[in-house]
Amino acid sequence: MSELKIGLIGAGSISGSHLAAYQANPKTVLWAICDINEERAREAAKKFNIPHVYTDYRKLLENPEVQAISICTWNNTHAEISIAALKAGKNVLCEKPLCINVDEALSVQDAVRRTGNLLQVGYVRRFASNIAVLRKFIDAGDLGDIYYAKASLIRRLGNPGGWFADKARSGGGPLIDIGVHAIDLCWYLMGKPKVVSVSGNTYAKLGNRSHIENYAFYKAADYDASLNTVEDMANALIRFENGASLMVDVSFSLHAKENSALLNIYGEKGGAEIEPVLSIVTEQHNTIINIDPQISSPGFDFEDSFQNEINHFVDSCLNGGPNISPIEDGVEMIKILNAIYQSAAEGREIRF
Ligand SMILES: NC(=O)c1ccc[n+]([C@@H]2O[C@H](COP(=O)([O-])OP(=O)(O)OC[C@H]3O[C@@H](n4cnc5c(N)ncnc54)[C@H](O)[C@@H]3O)[C@@H](O)[C@H]2O)c1
Repeated sequence: MSELKIGLIGAGSISGSHLAAYQANPKTVLWAICDINEERAREAAKKFNIPHVYTDYRKLLENPEVQAISICTWNNTHAEISIAALKAGKNVLCEKPLCINVDEALSVQDAVRRTGNLLQVGYVRRFASNIAVLRKFIDAGDLGDIYYAKASLIRRLGNPGGWFADKARSGGGPLIDIGVHAIDLCWYLMGKPKVVSVSGNTYAKLGNRSHIENYAFYKAADYDASLNTVEDMANALIRFENGASLMVDVSFSLHAKENSALLNIYGEKGGAEIEPVLSIVTEQHNTIINIDPQISSPGFDFEDSFQNEINHFVDSCLNGGPNISPIEDGVEMIKILNAIYQSAAEGREIRF
């Protein structure tokens, strides 16, 4: 069997999950790595035994042996690198979010269509084992028509700082960073209904709370307490053409008693709670039933999800087949996220 030669661009935190998953996939060889921070690229190259190291992604793309790449850089570089990679004949797995605005998203979509190369958006939550289980229930019609979803990812002290807190590089705060996962997963499970309107609010009241003492939180490698141009929290109501709706709220900073994660979908015949663990709710013989699937990973299994995501990408590169996370879904999500920011800025509902 031919092995797929992989290049990875952006050797920061999440790159480790991509590299480990490629390393565990017998159909791939890690062939090239790039970071503008040469030390980081060299460190990863040493750890994962990668023969070619670059500090300019264009040079990596000139390597004719590289067939497929993972993009794990700051959000503001995703579109530019994706387009260059597609034009260089590479297949692309691009971390979420696809990019930071609708013009960029449409340009990437145009490049996918023109080149005919593959682009998979890094919606890793779609690849969780509990989602595969839930999909079987949904696809069998056990939940009926899903008409409502509620997604909430609350961090009370969780602004990572660095580029995450720099709107020019991130495109925004918790909405584009973690809200993208929450909205995408619900929208995907709802059957990707067409959006008709979005109404959102964003708040920047608490800042990054860098003054808080005696409480540890994740800080990006380039953390700088004085840099923060993103929202603390966002909420939104998204309405769909089929009458369904999705309510979301997400935060980096909030006076909440604890961090919390909740992802629920509700249908005519049953509902499902996905976070923190999968639970299905229905009724039988006039009695309400809570079903707790007995599975090894009832919650979001981070490592296995990345492995499943990378395996799907590799198989699509080698054999074709349906793309679980296609460019169109990346574009739609950027439209939704941008509309939430626009709605908040203009204080009105945005109609699609
Ligand atoms: N799927 C998930 O659950 C998940 C989790 C974390 C991060 N992410 C996404 O992964 C991406 C990276 O996040 P991270 O936490 O690893 O950030 P990070 O800061 O740890 O790493 C990003 C790296 O990209 C490098 N970089 C930036 N621009 C570059 C360029 N033009 N060429 C080469 N290298 C460049 C930086 O030097 C840095 O080393 C983001 O888009 C983020 O949204 C996804």
